[in-house]
Amino acid sequence: MNYSQTKELLKKYDQEQLLKYYDELDDNSRKLLLKQIEDIDFDVLKYLGNKNSENAKGKITPLDDAVSIDDIEKNREKYTNIGIEAIKEGKVAALLLAGGMGTRLGSDKPKGMYNIGETKDVYIFEMLIRNLMDVVNRTGVYVPLYIMTSEKNNDDTVKFFEEKNYFGYDKDYVDFFVQEMAPATSFDGKIFLEDKDRVSTSPNGNGGWFISFVKSGLCEKAKARGVEYINIFAVDNVCQRMADPCFVGAMLDGGYRSAAKVVSKASPEEKVGVLCLEDGKPSIVEYYELTEDMRYETRDNGELAYKYGVILNYLFNIEDLEKNLENNLTVHIVKKKIQHLDEEGNKVKPETENGYKFETLVLDMIHMMDNCLAYEVVREKEFAPIKNKTGVDSVDSAKALLKLNGVEL
Ligand code: UTP
Repeated sequence: MNYSQTKELLKKYDQEQLLKYYDELDDNSRKLLLKQIEDIDFDVLKYLGNKNSENAKGKITPLDDAVSIDDIEKNREKYTNIGIEAIKEGKVAALLLAGGMGTRLGSDKPKGMYNIGETKDVYIFEMLIRNLMDVVNRTGVYVPLYIMTSEKNNDDTVKFFEEKNYFGYDKDYVDFFVQEMAPATSFDGKIFLEDKDRVSTSPNGNGGWFISFVKSGLCEKAKARGVEYINIFAVDNVCQRMADPCFVGAMLDGGYRSAAKVVSKASPEEKVGVLCLEDGKPSIVEYYELTEDMRYETRDNGELAYKYGVILNYLFNIEDLEKNLENNLTVHIVKKKIQHLDEEGNKVKPETENGYKFETLVLDMIHMMDNCLAYEVVREKEFAPIKNKTGVDSVDSAKALLKLNGVEL
């Protein structure tokens, strides 16, 4: 698109501020800016006028079944053997969601490069690979590992893995792919400029993983390799077990199409999404979407009706994901700190949230599945998310839990 076409387009969406510095730019920067504007999905802006659309859920009811920690203990050997068999047959892959910006942690580098060691270097990526290596050692086969990055952190991430020699993982089993971006806006819906020749964009949320995985060609590659199930996991939970044979086995034994690792909520008020049914299909409601009544509702045995919090560790069946590829995920409008140029063209790194990002979330994919097994894990063993530097879900709390589990830091 040339300048006047671009201007026309921006006028349509009331976003002409993006060309504010056009006249100051050299030819190359002008071209880059026009191209970037052409690539923007302006469609997402329509959600700004309807911020509560994500709350338009169907009828929410409690889950009717789950495998609890006790059930798992009783069946551990059976489930584990089934899982090991599937892993040995190459049917299970792991996929790390590492495209996020980790703004709460506040490091300029990818979150996985954060060093949580005390007496030695222990990087978040390293801990995750170590946990996956346990499965390799147990089954004798490498689990294919796909790592999703974004254009903001891909180069740093790939370079880091190279430098660290993949922390001992076989690099033939590791592939990276880059997720897509969405524009970021001020609270009044104006798309920010990040620089005079650059629109402010951010990764489009972890729900974009499957489309980007397909577009990258890696989905085909995985299927050609015989992969049927993918274990999605977040970068920040340093205690989690991925491609966990017992988890895989429990899903397969029960004939489920998907599965989610869950923890019993620490209290009714805990801020985690809970697994439930929506119009009879599996779904996840965010803590703020649960009504007061639902939050405290109990079953006959006194347990919370909405008891199981999700920890961003899911097993999906590739076949089902492909069937749902055309189904649009809800676009969530999230308040974040967004670096931008102010009115005078100065770069601003805000201390507090100053605008919106547009994200789809992997948790919404659960509702597309016919069923989902809730698989309860021991919180103290498997849930140590690092979102913040200190306090709740922080570097400090994760380190404490790792030490409790015998990890030397
Ligand atoms: P979070 O919701 O914690 O987001 O991501 P974040 O961007 O990493 O961190 P904050 O909110 O800015 O502090 C949960 C998981 O989803 C991944 C993250 O890397 C993390 O593993 N993610 C998030 C993506 O892969 N892409 C995204 O666009 C967003």
